[in-house]
Amino acid sequence: MKRRCVLLALFAPAGAWAQRGFRGGFRSAGAVGGSLPLAASDQEKRILGVLEEAWRTGATYANVPHADGRMLRLLTEAGRAKHVVEIGTSTGLSGLWFCMALQKTGGRLTTFEYDARRAATAREHFRKAGVAELVTIVEGDAHQTISRLKEPIDILFLDADKDGYVDYLNRLLPLVRPAGLILAHNIDMVPEYLRLVTTNPALETQLFREGGGMSITLKKL
Ligand SMILES: C[S@@+](CC[C@H](N)C(=O)[O-])C[C@H]1O[C@@H](n2cnc3c(N)ncnc32)[C@H](O)[C@@H]1O
Repeated sequence: MKRRCVLLALFAPAGAWAQRGFRGGFRSAGAVGGSLPLAASDQEKRILGVLEEAWRTGATYANVPHADGRMLRLLTEAGRAKHVVEIGTSTGLSGLWFCMALQKTGGRLTTFEYDARRAATAREHFRKAGVAELVTIVEGDAHQTISRLKEPIDILFLDADKDGYVDYLNRLLPLVRPAGLILAHNIDMVPEYLRLVTTNPALETQLFREGGGMSITLKKL
């Protein structure tokens, strides 16, 4: 009991600080699955500001919760990814998380969306966040438009039509570089996809259960 109290005392201040965020500017966003991280620079602060405003004003549509977004950023930056491909842009919030890493790795994001209004909102979010030059939005049905992709992919993120995950995987896996990652969101909705990535010996898959649930698959060397 005594030990538990000591632990709580140790972690409570850090937790409260994390909830307040950068210079007290960001509040906890429990409603959107986790809190925003502390900003280490004005660039990060600008992106986090656009994320916070989007959630506050409702410029959202089925976007990743903060916990998942933070994981997207973490994996992108840790892997020093140069080319991220996302299927399902929506209003660009997961794209902003990728860009937080890509502006440091010198990389870029290619993201696919068939809803023109959501694509326009995403474009505006990328502009406000100062990362528009890192992003190419490809409009149209991704099952058609992904055939334009020719360059190696460091991270592939699947977050569009759930029935399409298997098609996206089969067609884009050859472009994912060895040691690259395939991330898939809302894994509880895609059992056949999960079966494929957990039974292929060339792949290694673990599940991230916070937020919307995401599989993290390594294309082995
Ligand atoms: C779950 S939302 C994406 C959320 C986004 N990744 C985020 O977290 O900010 C899915 C998006 O995929 C788009 N979508 C669904 N099927 C698609 C398709 N075949 N081609 C392109 N976009 C598609 C939808 O219009 C929707 O905006």
